[in-house]
Amino acid sequence: MDNVTCIEDLRERARRRVPRAFFQYADHGSYTQSTLRANRADLDAVRLRQRVGIDVGQRDLSTTIVGEPATLPLALAPIGLCGMQFGDGEILAGRAAQQAGIPFCLSTMSICSLEDVAAAVEKPFWFQLYMMRDRGFVREMIERVIAAKCSAIVITLDLNMLGQRNCDIKNGISVPPRITARNLASIAARPSWAVSVLRGKRRTFGNLVGHIPGTEKLTSVALWTNAQFDPTLNWSDIEWVRGIWPGKIILKGIADPEDARIASQLGAAAIVVSNHGGRQLDGAPSAISALPAVADAVGSEIEVLFDSGIRSGQDVLRALALGARSCLIGRAFLYGLGAGGQAGVAKAIEIIRKELDVSMALTGITSVADAGRQVIASD
Ligand code: FNR
Repeated sequence: MDNVTCIEDLRERARRRVPRAFFQYADHGSYTQSTLRANRADLDAVRLRQRVGIDVGQRDLSTTIVGEPATLPLALAPIGLCGMQFGDGEILAGRAAQQAGIPFCLSTMSICSLEDVAAAVEKPFWFQLYMMRDRGFVREMIERVIAAKCSAIVITLDLNMLGQRNCDIKNGISVPPRITARNLASIAARPSWAVSVLRGKRRTFGNLVGHIPGTEKLTSVALWTNAQFDPTLNWSDIEWVRGIWPGKIILKGIADPEDARIASQLGAAAIVVSNHGGRQLDGAPSAISALPAVADAVGSEIEVLFDSGIRSGQDVLRALALGARSCLIGRAFLYGLGAGGQAGVAKAIEIIRKELDVSMALTGITSVADAGRQVIASD
């Protein structure tokens, strides 16, 4: 990881190391990608207020996230197919997060199963749940989450139908990778990726295979999954989960104050203000522009977490200043994973930690709890 100084360096390394189809799967957004671009542009446009003459010798980045101690206000977001960026990607990311002292969230659509991850990491992790049409399957999944001793369930609300990602269709993305002449050429040019994925425990959806009757074959898993995202998903489903899962619930994919109010009345531990990293509703406002109104509506009642567009510690500070209590990162750690496995994820977290630390000092604050709107420069 010599000469890696920022997340963009990790992105560039991942672009060179991961086959094109899987790199673009991680990197791109839905349809015209206008929301993906807005997420970045609007974060960049938030100006931080430079302050001087304040003793910032002792700084404290630590906090709690849904009651769990964290060394900085950051968690790793749930990512489908992590293990296609680097073999055993979910395990490696989970270990890097836990060593850094921040939460890790495993996706329903992961390559390693939740049992694989539970056996390989030291502390409890979060599990992200997609509400599939087959509620019998969801019930069994929640029972597995209880058995794996996860510390929170993150229910994703903004993917009740799949937003189209044009690159995935053009690249014919599939799990495991389909062997076409073009794919083979791309994979052959990336031997270290191929070795890591071949050495990995699994090459398909670890949480699904073997748990759904009739889907022993890989192709039927893919068909099952595509047909399973549930457009009937509604607030009463959260109550249903609550009846099975006694632990903390985090509701992810909220971008509207009215939805945030409903979520907070349902007794969730936190919401995640997110537009799925610009991968779902194209044309939606950037997540950072949605954050202040949501935080104003519910910030005193429920923990407000934030993701979509975070690529630096400065971005974390911007989100904290605009009402988030902590942030999640998706692509920022995924680029690290693609670039260098566990060491790459650790590097991504460390880059953001240092950037946040320096930016706090230069805005004159010494604790993340002090990152309020006074940290934003007025126009
Ligand atoms: C995601 N995201 C996601 N969210 C979720 O709840 N379940 C999932 O399986 C996935 N899968 C997934 C795959 C990839 C490749 C990406 C980039 C994102 C969304 C993710 O949790 C998070 O909301 C975004 O990644 C945040 O935006 P940034 O940090 O990537 O800009």
